[in-house]
Amino acid sequence: MPDAGLSQQLGFFYPALSIQYCFLSFPMELRVKRATRIDLEITVPGDKSISHRAVIVAALSNGICTLKGFLPSEDCMHTVNAMRALGIKIEQPEPTTLIVHGKKRVLNAPKEEINCGNSGTAMRLLAGLLAGQTFESRLVGDAGLLRRPMDRVIAPLCEMGATVVAEGPDETPPLRIRGGSLRGIHYRPSVASAQVKGALMLAGLFARGKTTVEELSPTRNHLEKIFNYFLVRTAAEGDGSVTVFGDQVPESRDFAIPGDISSAAFWLVAAAAQRRGHLLVRDVGLNDTRTALLAVLLRMGAQVREAVEDVDQVEPRGIVEVTGLPLKGTVIQGKEVPQLIDELPILSVAGALANGKTIVRQAQELRVKETDRIAAIAHNLRTMGAHVAELSDGLEIHGPAPLHGARVASFGDHRIAMAFAIAGLFADGETIVQDAECIRESYPGFEAVLEEFTNPKRMQVSTPVIGSFTPTPPEEG
Ligand code: S3P
Repeated sequence: MPDAGLSQQLGFFYPALSIQYCFLSFPMELRVKRATRIDLEITVPGDKSISHRAVIVAALSNGICTLKGFLPSEDCMHTVNAMRALGIKIEQPEPTTLIVHGKKRVLNAPKEEINCGNSGTAMRLLAGLLAGQTFESRLVGDAGLLRRPMDRVIAPLCEMGATVVAEGPDETPPLRIRGGSLRGIHYRPSVASAQVKGALMLAGLFARGKTTVEELSPTRNHLEKIFNYFLVRTAAEGDGSVTVFGDQVPESRDFAIPGDISSAAFWLVAAAAQRRGHLLVRDVGLNDTRTALLAVLLRMGAQVREAVEDVDQVEPRGIVEVTGLPLKGTVIQGKEVPQLIDELPILSVAGALANGKTIVRQAQELRVKETDRIAAIAHNLRTMGAHVAELSDGLEIHGPAPLHGARVASFGDHRIAMAFAIAGLFADGETIVQDAECIRESYPGFEAVLEEFTNPKRMQVSTPVIGSFTPTPPEEG
């Protein structure tokens, strides 16, 4: 049932938004038909990984920070509300702008448990942050998040001196955390994970001495970039390790978050897979720890142009242009995997549309994402008529498949839902993506862009990012 209280509140503040919110509160089916000729110019909502990190670092800073281009998706709003629960004033005058009143690293004990919803990034980053606090806190989440492994952050945070206890079986959430008095450590995580690195670097800010994370393979470096921009001293070594020095207060700064290349990936693959399809994405983040997808599309035969237009801000941003040509299969493995981990569902769809075999290996991390993405991709691709072998650490996909429309499941996973909506653009008949409401965890406004791919009205699509906007509550008193 929709939350009547919340929709009334939304209706009070933003009359036009309440209708959409009510609609989105019901389990949602996405109906997709074959794409018409793709020739579009679009922008995508703000980067999810950067949005989570920006609000946390701004909250720890010594003053007011204005963040533009923030992603007001459900996942990121959980981080915003967590920081509010820790005593930070955060205004949201419009969906994509946050004014964060940093309190020089002073956080208050939360009055109740902190809900991270479905967001693994929120829970793991907050676990690192809370490990540095002397008060006790408890992190909870929805049924999907309660299945995700937390041992990867629990072990190193305990080694730093915090007490972190998983209440679920096999080190799964809820997490109970009591921290403070941390010491810096040198840690080699056994998985290449930016969430683990981020958790340790946030804890490291509150630790004595230095905290070094030596990565198995490089992962997205947004926290390092944000720390540098906020004048927090870090050091990067040639061996792939990154160090943060403890006891520093970030210097308050304003900044603009670029569009999320992981959201753009869905449309880029659609254009690449359509012969002579053409797509220009503007104002998208081009951090080279996130653009491996473009190299894969190039390898598969698409024409890809990438141009960094702005390097003044924290993150490089610019345009990506893709022109579709007949795609061929490829192999994705090794160091490439952590750099396109979120793009593997949509690249698997590209594989099904390409000539020959596409092999994904060393991607066992996919099994512990929002769902077991290896099983989900294999299941849905087969449902739509593709030949797929499920491997323990990846997939072998035999293309090109004449995809047929079908009912496919989202498995409660936003990237599975969006990847199979794109598959529907290349299928005969109608594809129905069930339980597609999870899309708003990362991409409010996805459906509006999808509509342009099947029923183009204009040449330029700016995603309306209002799907999960929660207005700033009125000030008390
Ligand atoms: C993220 C890191 C990745 C990614 C997730 C976002 C982040 O997870 O899958 O969507 O913002 O740090 P891992 O770090 O666990 O690989």
